[in-house]
Amino acid sequence: MKILSASRRSLLVGAGVCLLPIGQARAATLAATPSQTEGPFYPAALPADMDNDLVQVRGQQARALGTVLHLEGRVLDVDGRPVDGALIEIWQCDSRGIYDHPRQRGRERRDSAFQGYGRMMVGGDGRYGFRTLKPVAYPGRTPHIHLKVATSAGLRLTSQLYVAGDPGNERDGIFRDAARDPRQRERIEMRLASAPGLEAGAFATTMDIVVG
Ligand SMILES: [Fe+2]
Repeated sequence: MKILSASRRSLLVGAGVCLLPIGQARAATLAATPSQTEGPFYPAALPADMDNDLVQVRGQQARALGTVLHLEGRVLDVDGRPVDGALIEIWQCDSRGIYDHPRQRGRERRDSAFQGYGRMMVGGDGRYGFRTLKPVAYPGRTPHIHLKVATSAGLRLTSQLYVAGDPGNERDGIFRDAARDPRQRERIEMRLASAPGLEAGAFATTMDIVVG
């Protein structure tokens, strides 16, 4: 191994620092998923079944009413690295716009075949996947899916995902605030593609969740 003199080393280190492509480094940094309000309907008590299939509740024959959406992607940090061990949770209303929550008016009319909440922990590849419903509007809100991410390093994100192009989006103040920056908008707009290969009538979307 060739030993470099101290002066040569410092020259190299200095050159390295000087030549660090600051602009490029910034360009490589991903926009973080914007933080948005948790809203009033995070489960007051977690359901007995809280796996990543919200369309089927364990022990029930019936499948949730509504259009199935396969939501998948990765949990990444702003440098694009998968966040091993991140816990991701989602929750949303049923196909009638009703949450499973004590504050929900008309809760008794909810679709009990819809799990309403699911969670999973991601592995080393950062990948997550939920089988859930294409979200629907309810009074005052455009369709959305709530989410939370907690990393083992203590980072926390609370946010919401929307259906790209839904006419209600631009009338929704929470969406508009989060979507003002085009790079953030990209993080919260789900582009749905029909996915008959996965399931008849279902849609699929890929959304990377960027924490940092
Ligand atoms: Fe909501």
